[in-house]
Amino acid sequence: MASGGTVVRYWEYLPEYERHRGEILAVVDRVFSSGRLILGDSVRRFEEGFSSWCGAGFGVGVNSCTDALFIALKALGIGEGDEVITVANTAVPTVAAIRATGARPLFVDVEADSYLMDAALLEQVITPRSRCILPVHLCGQAADMGAIGEVAGRHGLAVVEDCAQATGASYAGRRVGSFGVMGAFSFYPTKLLGAFGDGGMVVTSSPELAARLRRLRFYGMEGGYYSLEEGYNSRLDEVQAAILAYRMQTLEEEVAGRVAIAGRYNAGLEGVGDLLLPSVRPGRDHRYYLYTVRTSRRDELQEFLASRGIETRINYPHPIHLMEGYSFLGCRPGSLPVTERLAGEILSLPIYSSLPPEHGETVISAVRDFFANR
Ligand SMILES: Cc1ncc(COP(=O)(O)O)c(C=O)c1O
Repeated sequence: MASGGTVVRYWEYLPEYERHRGEILAVVDRVFSSGRLILGDSVRRFEEGFSSWCGAGFGVGVNSCTDALFIALKALGIGEGDEVITVANTAVPTVAAIRATGARPLFVDVEADSYLMDAALLEQVITPRSRCILPVHLCGQAADMGAIGEVAGRHGLAVVEDCAQATGASYAGRRVGSFGVMGAFSFYPTKLLGAFGDGGMVVTSSPELAARLRRLRFYGMEGGYYSLEEGYNSRLDEVQAAILAYRMQTLEEEVAGRVAIAGRYNAGLEGVGDLLLPSVRPGRDHRYYLYTVRTSRRDELQEFLASRGIETRINYPHPIHLMEGYSFLGCRPGSLPVTERLAGEILSLPIYSSLPPEHGETVISAVRDFFANR
């Protein structure tokens, strides 16, 4: 750390809170004064508004994206003996949710430039036990939903999208969450649309699945105190739903702020050292949940930036298939070469809508200095 401490934070929410404090506290007061704290009008309204904005017919608010993925897979009847195909270059919860159903995750490698599921490799991993493809829209960009949908269709597999990092991202003009049979979202505070606590949602255009998801999030019940099937407890709070509905109003403005910072990083870091900047595939947008660069000198660069008081993160330093917690899956080093190489080379620079522009310039100068001096 720099002797003067942190100069550029990787992420913080306090500036957003300060800007919207009055409105947020008014929203909180309205909910607290309403007499209803769980599964009331705020959740219902937010489910309707958010799901239709995604291009899906129904939304079911739950406690987190981890739960959203778990409940979505359960709604498809996926469990022990089934396989779900996903990537190892993702947050652990993607895989934890699959395992919570009892199913086995199968991993497919990712594209070296977009860090997203490599659809060209999917058919090599599909087996007769495979039930579902679970692409992850990482960093703020959609995976190749055209190619993934084609493979899924050919093999009779369901697609469940992990949209945690890419709320609102589009592919061929359609938003993520509307391609698969279900899409799972996170409202964890750091996410593009963040709550002031945990939250998640499953969106779907199937009324049957929506009804089942609603049962599953509430002990398998549908009205009276009677379980129609074995269920769980996973609910989005009224207060978080109301705050999220309020924050939806400024979401695009905030994403535009991220895109502007990414534009400055792109301009300032192009051609510097061996840095590879985030790539945006044709027909897609990038909402820059993360601004992740690649360099063969990642660890040195991270240390150098820390010495200048600049916080960075590695998303993700260890591919999941090689973590001890998942050693029982029997995956070998070298089985996902691109994923494994990325883990040693990727670095996420600070990006959030209220990042002061001068902090962006500080990051750019420091990265340039690092490569200039050696
Ligand atoms: C890709 C991905 N999937 C799932 C999750 C889980 O989200 P949550 O924290 O809402 O359970 C996250 C968040 O860490 C994520 O980044």
